[in-house]
Amino acid sequence: SAEKMDRRNFIKLGGMGATVFIAWPFLTPLNGVSEDNNKKPNPDFKPDLDIELTAKEHEISLYQGRNTRVWMFEGNLLSGDAESLEALDDSYLGPVIRVRKGQKTRIRFQNQLPEESIVHWHGMHVPEEDDGHPKDVIRNGETYVYEFEIMNRAGTYWFHPHPHGRTGPQVYNGLAGLFIVTDEEEEKLNLPGGEFDLPVVIQDRTIDNRNQLVYLTRGRMERMNGFLGNRIFINGKPDRKLSLKSGCKYRLRILNGSNSRFYKLAWEDGTPLVIIGKDGSLLDSPKSKAYVMLGVAERVDVWLDLTNRSEGSQMTLKSLSFSPGMMGMMGGMRGRDRNNLPLGSTYEILNINIDKTGNNNFELPQRLAEFNKIDPAIAVNRDNPRTFRFFMRRMQWTINGRTWEMTGVTEEETVKLNTTEIWEIANTGSWGMENDRKWMNGRWRRRGRGEQDRNRENMMGGGMQMPHPFHIHHLQFNILERDISGMDSRIWNSVKDGFIDEGWQDTVLLMPGMKVKLIMRFEDFKGLFLYHCHNLEHEDMGMMRNFKIE
Ligand code: C2O
Ligand code: CU
Ligand code: CU
Repeated sequence: SAEKMDRRNFIKLGGMGATVFIAWPFLTPLNGVSEDNNKKPNPDFKPDLDIELTAKEHEISLYQGRNTRVWMFEGNLLSGDAESLEALDDSYLGPVIRVRKGQKTRIRFQNQLPEESIVHWHGMHVPEEDDGHPKDVIRNGETYVYEFEIMNRAGTYWFHPHPHGRTGPQVYNGLAGLFIVTDEEEEKLNLPGGEFDLPVVIQDRTIDNRNQLVYLTRGRMERMNGFLGNRIFINGKPDRKLSLKSGCKYRLRILNGSNSRFYKLAWEDGTPLVIIGKDGSLLDSPKSKAYVMLGVAERVDVWLDLTNRSEGSQMTLKSLSFSPGMMGMMGGMRGRDRNNLPLGSTYEILNINIDKTGNNNFELPQRLAEFNKIDPAIAVNRDNPRTFRFFMRRMQWTINGRTWEMTGVTEEETVKLNTTEIWEIANTGSWGMENDRKWMNGRWRRRGRGEQDRNRENMMGGGMQMPHPFHIHHLQFNILERDISGMDSRIWNSVKDGFIDEGWQDTVLLMPGMKVKLIMRFEDFKGLFLYHCHNLEHEDMGMMRNFKIE
């Protein structure tokens, strides 16, 4: 069965490097690539933008001495505005693709990797055949042509591969890029553009003493937890520096492009972070935050005003300490020798050197975007939300106890076109004694004996509890509420001010014990799409399912 094959291949494939090539022939039958997957350009589609995007092996100089072997997306503009495609410095990361709402976009994805791949446009509202579903993978030497109209609002989106079981290593090896959408509403604002609109992609990597990337070498527990690197890269570079101008205002588009690490971002000197956008939208108005929690695949757009900062000064973006539950404990345990950045510790993310002077007249408006959250009253399942529980069962990461099936979809996962629904996403396994208490009437109380026992039983079933960044394809949702009644107070207190629950989002970080209610609308396209945990190791292990719009 496909599931059995999945497991076998998963165990066989180590990280990048020789293992991949040796194990590769075993993978080929898995996805059953057919000629249909070799999608060709449609002569009737008249693109405003036509891009070639090639995934290939490459060598890059990251450190003194030996080059580092990476995989990268290389962009080539065939037709369209020159600003639509821009290489990101000279890093391994993919090009920044800039589009405008309403544009017809054609992207010719060429796979020159030694294995199957397919590209997913994270956050974009596109038809099934353009979504980069794992069933649509293409082999080395093949081309898949995406043709879609940009229907999304202005926002910071991104793209990355999505082959089943191999998303983690492919992204880790370097395959990811920003996909930035603008629209009329945003263009009316006077927000920073050009050199003042800056990508900040945060990733963690481990580099060996021959300057090569190291991925999942520590065995089963590491895979269960998710990969944690021992250093931070910004925009694909280890030096983590930006050189900016005093007197200027900037827009930082921060993407957490890590495999499983998440961050508690704050300016070191206590300056509040001014958030103007999250995932697929500008917020209605700017929000000041002491810190921001940024789960895997989440994006925040940050306003940075350097008018009163003098030339020669510095700013540092840090990740502050917090209590991540289980996963951080694991990170901490191996902290001494193998991983000097345990999850939940404090470390530097980005150093900004204000080493020039300039001026620009961009403005931070009090009103950014016009929108209302979807009204819960119109949800067809208002009184009875669908519930998806993310938990471990028999040493497998599952959603409602199920793992990945290539095209499998259940009744529970089937929705109707042109309806609005409320989904409750729950991170409810349990881990140890932390869950013996609950939040009730404004304080923590001990749970009753029976309830404690049930929790323990859950744990015996392998209910290890870890943070899960929930992501759904094809749409942007609103967050209605977070339920923290099942959470450990230490975890909650260390992260509670860092969530941005406004705006249109496609990814939401669920801390252990947390539940969130989301409201979403299924419109324009029928088809099979994905929802999953965006911890890439969890996703590759099967914490991913299809949902169907019919
Ligand atoms: Cu970033 Cu399934 O996606
Ligand atoms: Cu996605
Ligand atoms: Cu997860």
